[in-house]
Amino acid sequence: MHLYQVVKRRQLAPAIVLFEVEAPRVAAKVKPGQFVIVRMDEKSERIPLTVMDFNRERGTITIVVQDVGYSSCMINNLQEGSSFLDFVGPLGVPSDIENYGTVVCMGGGLGIAPIYPIARALREAGNHVISILGARTADLLILREEMAAVSDEVVIVTDDGSLGTKGYHSTGLDQILAQGHKVEVIWAIGPMVMMRAVARYTKTLGIKTIVSMNPIMVDGTGMCGACRVKVGEETKFACVDGPEFDGHLVDFELAMQRLAFYKDEENRAKAHGAC
Ligand code: FES
Repeated sequence: MHLYQVVKRRQLAPAIVLFEVEAPRVAAKVKPGQFVIVRMDEKSERIPLTVMDFNRERGTITIVVQDVGYSSCMINNLQEGSSFLDFVGPLGVPSDIENYGTVVCMGGGLGIAPIYPIARALREAGNHVISILGARTADLLILREEMAAVSDEVVIVTDDGSLGTKGYHSTGLDQILAQGHKVEVIWAIGPMVMMRAVARYTKTLGIKTIVSMNPIMVDGTGMCGACRVKVGEETKFACVDGPEFDGHLVDFELAMQRLAFYKDEENRAKAHGAC
């Protein structure tokens, strides 16, 4: 049996850990915007995680995990040398990377991790990449150096003003637009409330906005229907049709209701578990 060994572990913030994992077959094919589904052992649930980075030569995939429940807490306790039982991927449709002109890559909290390879690819494709990184507080703002290395400009916003400008991603966008930039496309990845707020705002501005949905997933192959997302009048499966969708068409209220389905079970498991 092939095990997927953790070759590097780095604590990025109090509850956020970066793992570089040996997964050569995934690393050979993965593209920005795609995700993997991981499982620690036979009893664990499957967790979808967007890929932060990949190294085809080393055959590794980098993921970033935030402790938000029992399973993610168990993962974050993994040390270098320990392994995942399953590491399935790459899954989902890659980001549509083209030369658009000026693009804004917004990462909120943990969403800074998946925005990283997208920003890098957009820059490699010739775009002027402006990144807006946001978090509640300065200590939760991850991957600043990495994002600076793949962006032409970086704007930082925090809810409490402990770093950068006090405000939200829309505040950062206002700053950019006030400088006279003509933004062609925005990628916004982060908590559902952040993506909803950004999409609502950019709709009024008429700027195309792509969001990456991270609903509950089970099989990741379009069979179980767990990852249903309403996009316009259509029902889409985030695992095979996404995870990226037009943010102006996503029904965020429904997506947020569905995401809260298993919260009680998660909390109960965490309360009883060893994690
Ligand atoms: Fe089952 Fe998408 S996770 S259909």
